[in-house]
Amino acid sequence: MSLNAPASAIDPKTVEDAAALLRAGQLCAFPTETVYGLGADATDSDAVLSIYEAKGRPRFNPLIIHCSDLAMAETLAEFSPLARTLAKAFWPGPLTLVLPKRTGVALSDITTAGLSSVALRVPAHPLALELIAVVGKPLAAPSANPSGRLSPTSASQVRLGFAGRVPVLDGGPCSAGVESTIISVAGDTLTQLRAGALSREEIEALVGQQVLDPAKDAAITAPGMLLSHYAPNALIRLNADAANPGEAMLGFGKVSGTINLSPSGDLHEAARNLFAMLNQLDETGIRAIAVAPIPLDGLGEAINDRLERAAAPRG
Ligand code: TXA
Ligand code: MG
Repeated sequence: MSLNAPASAIDPKTVEDAAALLRAGQLCAFPTETVYGLGADATDSDAVLSIYEAKGRPRFNPLIIHCSDLAMAETLAEFSPLARTLAKAFWPGPLTLVLPKRTGVALSDITTAGLSSVALRVPAHPLALELIAVVGKPLAAPSANPSGRLSPTSASQVRLGFAGRVPVLDGGPCSAGVESTIISVAGDTLTQLRAGALSREEIEALVGQQVLDPAKDAAITAPGMLLSHYAPNALIRLNADAANPGEAMLGFGKVSGTINLSPSGDLHEAARNLFAMLNQLDETGIRAIAVAPIPLDGLGEAINDRLERAAAPRG
């Protein structure tokens, strides 16, 4: 494997250092408000290929393109009035829009896996925004974890996942803790391809229309939606009231545990803690983790989605 990164990476200390790596066609992980991203210049096919190599990700899985603002995003995709309304309301923020790709844009075909659509977002993290602006180009960035593993919400988790071989711009812990919500905009129809850190209810309240789910019999339109995607080493048992012998317990609200996602039952706090706490229990070497029930409203939809994937039979 010719990973386009040194055997032991030196972390960039400043945004300028990180930008220099990216401009030179190398990878650099950077913080966003959701999870850390493994960034590459989205116009450079060789750089983007090294993302797939580093992650061990199936080639067909397209990447999210990160922009510094709506103006940069509009150079890459066709924005309908509905798409623009969503972008203006929720960017910078944890919303990814899947839109028709403009023809003749400089984006590497590899970022979109040959699709005629493109997934775009403007992240709400000052370092990410500064980094994209300094590079002056859109950045392709999937979550900075080896494929199939938990998404990292701190720089140290990124280093652990890639055994220190990928440089990381450290921006502290992520505030949202689960990935962005992915919405496809096709004509007047909004379809949620992935539940995420922006709740369906907030989107529906803004636009005054329903956000649909992908048709059950449709081909997988967001490959991140493959079952068993977010998998810790330990087996996961959901909707548990208490731990069985040999299990660690991840609590929520009044259901206490080894650790608790949110003792007060706050879903934002639980989302922020989800991957970090699963990682924390996983790193103890425990064989199984029981997880307290999480309500399905608001951010609970995304949390339950990630937990069901973590609990799914392993492929
Ligand atoms: O919060 C996030 O979204 C994080 C941070 C780093 O921004 N990024 C992230 O990216 O989760 P990634 O690459 O792990 O997830 C990308 C998802 C995949 O499920 C992929 O299939 C879907 O976006 N996707 C990308 N382009 C698409 C397209 N044109 N049509 C449908 N789905 C697309
Ligand atoms: Mg991911």
